[in-house]
Amino acid sequence: MTRRFLFVLGSSRSEGNTELLARAAAEQLPKSVEQQWISLAEHPLPDFVDLRRDSDHVRPPVGSTPALLLDATLAATDIVIASPLYWYSVSGLTKRYLDYWSGWLRTPGIDFKATLAGRTLWGVTALAHQETEVADPLVGTLNNSAAYMGMRFGGVLAGNGSRRGDVLNDAEALARAKTFFAQEAPLARFPYEAG
Ligand SMILES: Cc1cc2nc3c(=O)[nH]c(=O)nc-3n(C[C@H](O)[C@H](O)[C@H](O)COP(=O)(O)O)c2cc1C
Repeated sequence: MTRRFLFVLGSSRSEGNTELLARAAAEQLPKSVEQQWISLAEHPLPDFVDLRRDSDHVRPPVGSTPALLLDATLAATDIVIASPLYWYSVSGLTKRYLDYWSGWLRTPGIDFKATLAGRTLWGVTALAHQETEVADPLVGTLNNSAAYMGMRFGGVLAGNGSRRGDVLNDAEALARAKTFFAQEAPLARFPYEAG
């Protein structure tokens, strides 16, 4: 299967540090790898509604934002969650996209879990704090989501910055970006499974 990367941009502002860092990493991908970029701020998802005990989920109507994101997610071999660190975790826009995964897990006819199993989840984040371990909740959210889905997890590329463009001064993050997507992405495991 040709590799196809979906970049899901979760910042509330355009061309922010997370996107700049994700683009620096994506520049290193071979030309043969397809890339699709979707900004959740430009394509806002409606509030997620949990229908598990009611009518359950149906495939979203063609042309809607949920359909755009569902089709892009199903078509991707590699999903890159590019979310700034907001309150130590993923942004609200990003969290809502992940909440939609719960609906897609229950949407008949798409085999969401089986389709994503074995594919790879990656993370890119920017944060104002210098010590990147404060982003552990974001890393845990992505790792555990990948483990639940039976996906591979390539880890999180983190860069420092507060104002737009700051991350371009983070030489270490830019250096890590050069090889980030070339790394092995092992099958994700919950922390209690590690060992
Ligand atoms: C709502 C909000 C919450 C934030 N929470 C954190 C945080 O918990 N820790 C941190 O280090 N920076 C935090 N920041 C700073 C951003 O992570 C930082 O400005 C980052 O560069 C934004 O990425 P962007 O340019 O891609 O939007 C927060 C910013 C906003 C707007």
